[in-house]
Amino acid sequence: VRSLRLVGQHVHKQHSREMSSSVGPQRKVTILGAAGGIGQPLGLLMKLNPLVTHLSLYDIAGTPGVAADISHCNTPAEVSGFAGDEDLGKALEGSDVVIIPAGVPRKPGMTRDDLFKINAGIVKTLCTAISQHCPEAIVNMISNPVNSTVPIAAEVFKKAGTYDPRKLFGVTTLDVVRARTFYAAKKGLNVRDVDVPVVGGHAGITILPLFSQATPYKPVEGDELEALTKRTQDGGTEVVQAKAGKGSATLSMAYAGAVFAEACLKGLNGEKGIVECTYVQSSVIPELPFFASKIRAYKFLDGGAEHNIHVGPKVIS
Ligand code: NAI
Repeated sequence: VRSLRLVGQHVHKQHSREMSSSVGPQRKVTILGAAGGIGQPLGLLMKLNPLVTHLSLYDIAGTPGVAADISHCNTPAEVSGFAGDEDLGKALEGSDVVIIPAGVPRKPGMTRDDLFKINAGIVKTLCTAISQHCPEAIVNMISNPVNSTVPIAAEVFKKAGTYDPRKLFGVTTLDVVRARTFYAAKKGLNVRDVDVPVVGGHAGITILPLFSQATPYKPVEGDELEALTKRTQDGGTEVVQAKAGKGSATLSMAYAGAVFAEACLKGLNGEKGIVECTYVQSSVIPELPFFASKIRAYKFLDGGAEHNIHVGPKVIS
């Protein structure tokens, strides 16, 4: 771990001129579960992101190797790797965005709910550390079942007195990514131009792609609507079965996680018009304290003066 930090420092020095000449703010992104199937490609994608100035990689083991490997990419972000409980605080200190893909993934025949027992405990431990070491950070929860890990994180933060519902997000971007891909293919559209909002939750039938609000709009009805909806809802299971016991979606999830984290960084940096679907505390449906909705990242104004920059939920539709 120590040698890795040196690698990190070296990388930092090597690029200090580039960093000092850049106009963007310093942004630290931390990945918890960074040595896993999602964590590794997600770490790589964040290292390539010009909005990231420091990338902190934490896992219970294996992170020194991952961090050394990623740190050799010639992009400005400084990389540090941390392994084991005793380093968790150091990994988190000063983080602006914390991404959590830590925990066990599904195997064939398992639902996301089957992961609850193990992942709930992991999320509780990690969120307790976040409340102590970087209470202001934006949290992107990837660990499943997202429908439950997000409320667990909220309770941990409430207990610690650090809960800010505008900063806790369940990452449902992969549902959006799948809906866009399947809709564009079906309708012969350029997938780069396509958007499909996905609301609800992040498990089976709670995933509700709104093809009626897709852009560009092409009607999807009857059997076609049913088939596209089902494929989006079952996208995760499609991958779990294809991997036949070797895990769940990792590469597409890393891509989706990187898209969502970038939106958070842009929001923090004050960029306007950043809208993503994500699972957040919500009052849209009174019986459902958390609901995936379209959220706009925005700056808060305090007494007319620009205050801390937050990213927060605003249900648009
Ligand atoms: P993986 O097993 O390959 O990696 C998980 C990593 O978490 C491992 O490196 C492990 O050492 C680490 N870990 C375990 N306990 C930890 C702790 N206390 N602190 C830090 N790290 C810890 O699993 P994979 O495929 O990367 O999936 C991770 C999670 O993401 C699973 O819960 C999976 O269900 C979920 N997932 C969520 C999706 C979404 O759309 N939100 C999509 C796909 C997966």
